[in-house]
Amino acid sequence: MKILVAGTGYVGLVTAVCLAEKGHEVTCFDVVKEKIDMLNQGKSPIYEAGLEELMEKNKEKITYTTSKTKAYKDVDVIFIGVGTPEKTDGSANLEYVYSVADDISEYVDKDCLVVIKSTVPIGTNRKVEEYLNEKMKEKNIRIETASNPEFLAQGTAVNDTLNASRIVIGTHSSWAENILKEIYKGFTNSELVSTDIYSAEMIKYASNDFLALKISYINEIANLCEVLGANIEDVAYGMGLDPRIGNKFLKAGIGYGGSCFPKDTKALHWLANVNGIELKTVKAAIEVNENQKLKLMKRISAYYPKLEGLNVAILGLAFKPGTDDLREAPSIPNIEYLINSKAKVKAWDPVAAKNFAKRFPEITYCETIEDTITDADACLIFTEWKDVKEFPIENYAKLMKNPLVLDGRNCYKLEDVEEKGVEYESIGRRKVTKD
Ligand SMILES: NC(=O)c1ccc[n+]([C@@H]2O[C@H](COP(=O)([O-])OP(=O)(O)OC[C@H]3O[C@@H](n4cnc5c(N)ncnc54)[C@H](O)[C@@H]3O)[C@@H](O)[C@H]2O)c1
Repeated sequence: MKILVAGTGYVGLVTAVCLAEKGHEVTCFDVVKEKIDMLNQGKSPIYEAGLEELMEKNKEKITYTTSKTKAYKDVDVIFIGVGTPEKTDGSANLEYVYSVADDISEYVDKDCLVVIKSTVPIGTNRKVEEYLNEKMKEKNIRIETASNPEFLAQGTAVNDTLNASRIVIGTHSSWAENILKEIYKGFTNSELVSTDIYSAEMIKYASNDFLALKISYINEIANLCEVLGANIEDVAYGMGLDPRIGNKFLKAGIGYGGSCFPKDTKALHWLANVNGIELKTVKAAIEVNENQKLKLMKRISAYYPKLEGLNVAILGLAFKPGTDDLREAPSIPNIEYLINSKAKVKAWDPVAAKNFAKRFPEITYCETIEDTITDADACLIFTEWKDVKEFPIENYAKLMKNPLVLDGRNCYKLEDVEEKGVEYESIGRRKVTKD
């Protein structure tokens, strides 16, 4: 069976490499030549733990190409893993999915199964299938689509794929269902959920939006904890022991970011609206997150009403640890605010700094946490990298001009901060003062 994966981003590349790991021969196609060149040199264009090692291990089974003729010729199954970013009205932009469909209609030379892995609005698989069959009727080729949404999380993408919590397939024929079952038969640690196409598409949005909601809920409770004197870490721990609630996604902070939750909440909200239904809970999750993102700007302004000329140290730029992805990272609006306020910004991130520098060349990037915080008037923590969590708290007092630490990710235990000579504020917990 010739398997093609169109799109070599987080989803496409990880899917392809994991399918190869399970014994399949896979071709990866992308329109960006630089990515394919890197892949052909054994380098991954994205940072994901364990990915390059797995690429190396399975290199005989994976082909990378920008040639459409080579990619689409004689193919049996095509996985689409291209981006579906947000449009200005909140709906999902499907232009990349349709550009793959156009390539399929031009280059595919026999009947095949097109599996949409990209997160697409409910009904898209059906529409893409109709679109393809209309375009290909003169060639006398039949295309069927199947939904196979992806649930990996960036930072743990390889493990999440090899040991997926579930593999969801949405099909409308036993032919398509059997092909997907055959492809995934080696993924023995994961339950395979086989359903209709609409439900499969909905499982993806409903899951992501529920997680976003959980984060916004705990963030609102955290904000209330601050006012009422409760500790969100204890509250979340106590809640999480209830198996009906679970302990995941109960970490308070400065909001969710990344390439999925922000756009997937807006896309489902939009889709519901055009179908005459207001998703009030999802709307609330979006609003809470927007407010939460700039929480540390309000905090720093309480200490320094004028930010001009202030030395601000930033620890962490990625939207979460383990990734260099900056899409919708809370660091972005915060740093824009600081730059617009004419603060002098120095930043550190172990993997995302290079990407960030392309967008914000005007700030200083440091190699170490020590260099970043030296002589700073305030330090803001945006990502809970292990290096930050393990960085000795007393070093802030030693190196900063004014040891004010505003922690947007609750990296430190309050008792560890006590009597270390720092002014420390976090999310949903009491403030620790210097003296
Ligand atoms: N990133 C995640 O954590 C994640 C998790 C689950 C689902 N998803 C969903 O998966 C989809 C892909 O996300 P991603 O983060 O991997 O995107 P990405 O932006 O990292 O990768 C998309 C890739 O598609 C390529 N591409 C664009 N047009 C193409 C074409 N016509 N043919 C071939 N390649 C083309 C791009 O060059 C890019 O390399 C999105 O719908 C997203 O919502 C993402």
